[in-house]
Amino acid sequence: MACHNGLVTAAGEDVSMGFLWRPTMMANAARDPYWRAGVRRETLDRPAAAAAIQDECSKCHMPMMRYAAHVDGQKGAVFAHPPTGGVTPAAHLAADGVSCSMCHQVAAGNLGTEESLVGGFRVEEAAPRAPRPLSPADSASVTLPFTIAWAAASDPSGILAYNWQVSASSTFAKISRQDSVMAPATSDVVSGLAVGQKFQFRLRSGVARQRSNALQVSFSNG
Ligand code: HEC
Ligand code: HEC
Repeated sequence: MACHNGLVTAAGEDVSMGFLWRPTMMANAARDPYWRAGVRRETLDRPAAAAAIQDECSKCHMPMMRYAAHVDGQKGAVFAHPPTGGVTPAAHLAADGVSCSMCHQVAAGNLGTEESLVGGFRVEEAAPRAPRPLSPADSASVTLPFTIAWAAASDPSGILAYNWQVSASSTFAKISRQDSVMAPATSDVVSGLAVGQKFQFRLRSGVARQRSNALQVSFSNG
């Protein structure tokens, strides 16, 4: 949250995302005493199903804690986590309800399916693979404008876009040209580079907020 606070518009309005999120329903989905009382009532009425009820109710109200518990082969537990947070990582995840890192890690994979509408979101856990550059070939000589092309990358959650960059330095300290094309396109046209120089081109695939490592080739221009 630290990175998205202290934001002020030209007109002086504070638009700090962390502060705007903090008082929302979603930020307090797990702290809400009315919700906790509702879950307590259900578990008192059906003690034999108490664990299943807490797991079900934490789906949307404590999604981060529940997701982490399921990764560890456990169920979402509501009353094990105080509404004020606590010292364990799970308690922090529980108290923050629906937070920035919750929504911003949801993967495209099952969006729109019934499962995804009742808390069955999927989180992007691994970065997608880097797409393999096809042209220009490594050490090739090109004339402007030229086409860069790459092999489509595969990822279970689907590839959102490919980002390419061209730089005269192999560390990409200064970028000469860059752009992004939406998948499934696997090529783009590059122009506007100084003639007679050696360049590098690198590519990344992106799924939601995840990015692959970059692969790069070098070529000379004119
Ligand atoms: C599929 C997601 C989802 C699940 C699962 C879920 N809830 Fe909710 N719950 C919500 C949403 C969204 C709201 C806010 C609705 C609104 O105010 O318009 C809410 C609101 C509530 C409220 C009202 C809170 C208030 O202060 O007004 C209570 C009580 C509640 N839920 C109890 C439960 C219980 C008990 C369970 C488990 C049996 C449960 N919820 C499971 C999504 C869910
Ligand atoms: C309930 C889900 C949800 C929560 C919680 C949430 N966001 Fe977002 N956020 C979105 C959606 C949806 C968008 C718009 C779609 C997009 O740009 O990918 C968005 C857009 C953004 C953008 C603009 C992204 C861009 O590429 O233009 C930023 C920055 C951002 N959120 C930061 C935050 C921060 C910081 C928090 C926590 C304080 C937060 N978000 C909490 C769902 C959420």
